[in-house]
Amino acid sequence: MPEGTELFHIMRTTRAMRRLKPDPVPDELIRQILEAGVCAANGGNNQPWRFLVIKDRSIKEQVQRWYKKAFDEVVGPRYRGSEPPPGSSPSRYRRQHDAVEYLTDHYHDAPVWIVACQDHGSDTPNRASGASIYPAVQNMLLAARALGLGATLTSRHLRHETEVEAIMGLPPGVHSYAILPIGYPMGNFGPVRRGALSDFVYLDQWGESYPAVAPAD
Ligand SMILES: Cc1cc2nc3c(=O)[nH]c(=O)nc-3n(C[C@H](O)[C@H](O)[C@H](O)COP(=O)(O)O)c2cc1C
Repeated sequence: MPEGTELFHIMRTTRAMRRLKPDPVPDELIRQILEAGVCAANGGNNQPWRFLVIKDRSIKEQVQRWYKKAFDEVVGPRYRGSEPPPGSSPSRYRRQHDAVEYLTDHYHDAPVWIVACQDHGSDTPNRASGASIYPAVQNMLLAARALGLGATLTSRHLRHETEVEAIMGLPPGVHSYAILPIGYPMGNFGPVRRGALSDFVYLDQWGESYPAVAPAD
């Protein structure tokens, strides 16, 4: 295994990579990412996932207009009015906001998108529906990172789901869950920033600390 591709290192450094070069990505790498996706857990091994690879610039541009509209109307104002999340800081959060805005403006410049979809047929998607697609999405993010490619899980397009799915030509019964813009990153794969485990993990009773995850003094 090449140095630096050990699984835990990959997980710690798989960040939202929003600044991407427009250089083309070899189809073989996209194939490897998709192969990683279909290794994921899924309910009953029914494999309801479908993946639409989009390279067509005009489709990406049309979707980007809706993605930006959602930023201008909802996401941008929300970012500006909110506090940094656990493990972040005001300056890091500001940089995250800048990167989110950058990706919004350059969404269509990413050379390849993988749109993660599910075929629900005549069933109505419910709260559990994403459980059979997001593991595949995470596998693909990890695979992209391991291959030196940047990617971001994006789902903002769902604010204009009907319009965007029509642009992408999804047939009836098929719904999108995430769009992964993929390309070679402009920057480096730094570590993810998260709160301490002790903020999130309890033992036996809700709210009871789990000593095994207490931060060292
Ligand atoms: C369900 C979901 C939807 C997301 N949608 C977007 C999105 O539309 N645009 C975006 O730039 N990032 C999106 N993200 C990425 C998160 O903002 C990112 O994972 C988070 O800020 C942590 O950043 P990091 O992975 O770089 O540590 C999404 C992540 C998740 C899990």
